[in-house]
Amino acid sequence: MNSPASVLVVAPGCPPELVQELFNTNILPSPSKVIVLLPPGNPWQYSHLVNAPGLSPTAQVFSSPAQSFFSTRHLKWIRRHLRSVDQVMVLISTSPYGNPTIAAVSLLMMLLAGKTITLLRTIDEPMAASPEPPDPKGADWHEGWFVITLNPDALAKEFGKTAWSAYPNFVKNLINRTERELCFYFECYDTVKPVNYEPLDSSPAALQKDLEHAMTVGNLYLDALPGGVAFLPGKKVLEVGPGINLGPMLMLACHGAQVSVVDRFLTPWDAEYHPRFYRLLKEKLLERWPSIDLKVLEMILSRNAYPPESIALYSCSLEDLLGIPDQSVDVVVSYDVLEHLFDLESAFTHLARITKPEGLGIHQVDFRDHRDFSRPLDYLLLSDKEFIRQFKERLGECGNRYRPQEMQQLLESKGFAVTAFQPTGFTEEQYLTDFFPQLKKSRRSRYRSCAAEDLRVNQGFFVLEKKTRESFHEGAERSWR
Ligand SMILES: C[S@@+](CC[C@H](N)C(=O)[O-])C[C@H]1O[C@@H](n2cnc3c(N)ncnc32)[C@H](O)[C@@H]1O
Repeated sequence: MNSPASVLVVAPGCPPELVQELFNTNILPSPSKVIVLLPPGNPWQYSHLVNAPGLSPTAQVFSSPAQSFFSTRHLKWIRRHLRSVDQVMVLISTSPYGNPTIAAVSLLMMLLAGKTITLLRTIDEPMAASPEPPDPKGADWHEGWFVITLNPDALAKEFGKTAWSAYPNFVKNLINRTERELCFYFECYDTVKPVNYEPLDSSPAALQKDLEHAMTVGNLYLDALPGGVAFLPGKKVLEVGPGINLGPMLMLACHGAQVSVVDRFLTPWDAEYHPRFYRLLKEKLLERWPSIDLKVLEMILSRNAYPPESIALYSCSLEDLLGIPDQSVDVVVSYDVLEHLFDLESAFTHLARITKPEGLGIHQVDFRDHRDFSRPLDYLLLSDKEFIRQFKERLGECGNRYRPQEMQQLLESKGFAVTAFQPTGFTEEQYLTDFFPQLKKSRRSRYRSCAAEDLRVNQGFFVLEKKTRESFHEGAERSWR
């Protein structure tokens, strides 16, 4: 599987040095190809970037055919490029709060692409210069790159209103026309940094712990495959939400699988952490399987990066995964990920779309309230409104509250047969005895009519088989009767 291309739209006002600097840092996900779309400007301003050999070996840089950013010609040109790619990034040089043009560009990109956009910007200006500075509480205000995900599903109303009067009329009209259908909302993740972007701990103790975890996860996948490692040669395997290293998938690759990963916050290559981690993994795999073929790991170590021939990287949410063709994947796996998805409907639609008929799914899910594992059901007491607010604020890290039965039903409705569900964690009896009456009394909770029995299992893994078209329809007819 080839890793996808991505488009980087450069917003007006970005100095050319910023584009250059972006390629010198490791902030960009590593797709096979980056298409850079320059804004209209004085030809001399950006011309040295077009086909510049020093920019990046994977970048193709195009100059706009138009005179102005907000012209129909320029926007059509951008839209044409957005259609075929999986990832869209916008490079801006200032806070989107501080500059109405940037705000308009962000909105426009969402309208044009209809998907989640990653904004890349530098924080090198005093935030106080912004008319409406965001609340810097807990934020990591430092010089350097910052990534904001703009999700078309949510809108920071105050942001829209502040900048509204300053939008060009063309943008106002465009937004008015499409607002109702898209009902787009901003989520500005300024104050919460995804765990995957935190600095990685390369101490020997931390590496050892991460290695053990990667082996546990990889072994869980192997144990659930029919025939274990013998099943893998030539099979296409996708892991959703791999986290900070790609150990489990590379373990499967060393057994002959063609592997890929998709993550909403793909951890960039870290020159301190990853080489050390993959050297340890190599030793561990060799110890366990003395005749294992380690060439994928060796290629990664020798290039100090993930070459596309070793593993395909999709830097987007599962909900937005368009880069993988229909019915092309033999096995999809995940470990402690499905509970973090914000839109399970579309995520499972993609899983069903990409999985081959009779293809497999192996998913370990942690159904606990991640805010406090010692009170694993407390989030069920919240109203939907309050829960959604907290879920978004924490980037889904608290867990999405789906119960095992609900998740199973949704998977089945998308065309998967649940061939096994193996519980791996249980709610403590004493906590459940105290909690259950509270849940019954909680008038705001959608879970108040849940049976206590349904709350006992709080971790487990699903083994799925994608039904063939015929068996899916037969099943639907049976349940209809
Ligand atoms: C709790 S971590 C688990 C990481 C890894 N599987 C492990 O066992 O250590 C959840 C992972 O899922 C990713 N994730 C969260 N929401 C996602 C989404 N909607 N689509 C794809 N990945 C997502 C996160 O970025 C993170 O890497």
